[in-house]
Amino acid sequence: LDQYLVFGNPIAHSKSPLIHRIFADQTAQALNYQKYLAPVDGFENSVRRFMAEGGKGANVTVPFKLEAFALCDSLSQRAKCAGAVNTLRFLDGVIEGDNTDGAGLVRDIVVNAGFSLKDKRVLLLGAGGASRGALQPLLMQNPKELVIANRTLAKAQELVQLASSFEVIHTVCIAASWEQIVGQFDLVINATSSSLQGEALPISGTVFGENCLAYDMMYDAQLTPFLAFAKKAGAQVRDGLGMLIEQAAEAFYLWRGVRPETTNVFKQLREGAI
Ligand code: ATR
Repeated sequence: LDQYLVFGNPIAHSKSPLIHRIFADQTAQALNYQKYLAPVDGFENSVRRFMAEGGKGANVTVPFKLEAFALCDSLSQRAKCAGAVNTLRFLDGVIEGDNTDGAGLVRDIVVNAGFSLKDKRVLLLGAGGASRGALQPLLMQNPKELVIANRTLAKAQELVQLASSFEVIHTVCIAASWEQIVGQFDLVINATSSSLQGEALPISGTVFGENCLAYDMMYDAQLTPFLAFAKKAGAQVRDGLGMLIEQAAEAFYLWRGVRPETTNVFKQLREGAI
C-alpha cells in the first residue's frame, strides 16, 4: 500500500485520515493515510524519515506550513503565491510542494455553494497565512473588487502589494483597517483566527449586501461568532467544512490523478455520521 501522512502539532482531532480513506475506498486506490504528531522542533526530520521509509506524500497543517514551504525542492505556482505548503509529494527523493487550501476554498464557494465570484465585491477579513493562501485562487475568479481588511493595516497592505505581482489580475485590490471598510459586499470571508478564540470581529452589519454569502474558513459544531453575526445581518452563511474536504480532494487528485466525489463525505461529516 502507498503510504501518506498528515503532519501537525496538535494532530489528534484531524479529520484528514478519515476523509482520505473515504476517497481511497470510493476511487479504489490502494493507499494508507495516517496522522502523525511531529515534534515542534522536528518537522523536517519527520518528513525526511517518512520519505526514506518509502512514503509517497503528505499533508501539512498547523504549525508547519511555512517550514514545509522552505523544505521543498520544487514548488507549484500557487504554493509560491501562498508562501506556504500544505501538500507534499515525494518523487525519486525530490520533495514537491503544493498548496491546495485556496483552491479548496474557491471550489467550495463556486461549485458546492453555486456562488460565482465573477464581477462581485469580495471582502477578505484577515491578512495572515490563511488569507495569503486564498489570494491568488480568489483573484483568478475575476471578482470586481477585493478589499482586504485587517486589524494590522500594514499586513493588509502587504497582501495587496503581493496581489499586484500575480500575472493576471483584473480586480481592484484595496487594503483597509476595520474602520475603513465601506460599502456592501457580495461575499465576506473570515480568514482571521478570531473564531478560534471565540471572538467576533469589529465590523459593521452593513457590509453584508443583498444575497451576500458570509464564509468562515473555520468550522465548528456551532455557528462561529462571525457567522452568527452575519446571519443576524441577513447573510447566507457557510463554514469551512467544505473547504477542508475540497483541499483534501485537491491533494488526493495531485497524488493519485483521480478526483474524488465530495458530496457524500460532506453530508456524512455534517451529520456527524462519521
Ligand atoms: P493564519 O495562518 O490562521 O492566517 P496568522 O498568520 O497568525 O494565522 O494570522 C492570523 C490573522 O488573524 C491575522 O490577520 C490577525 O490579525 P493581525 O495581523 O492584526 O494580527 C487576525 N486575528 C487574530 N486574532 C484576531 C482577533 N481577535 N481580531 C481580529 N483579527 C484577529
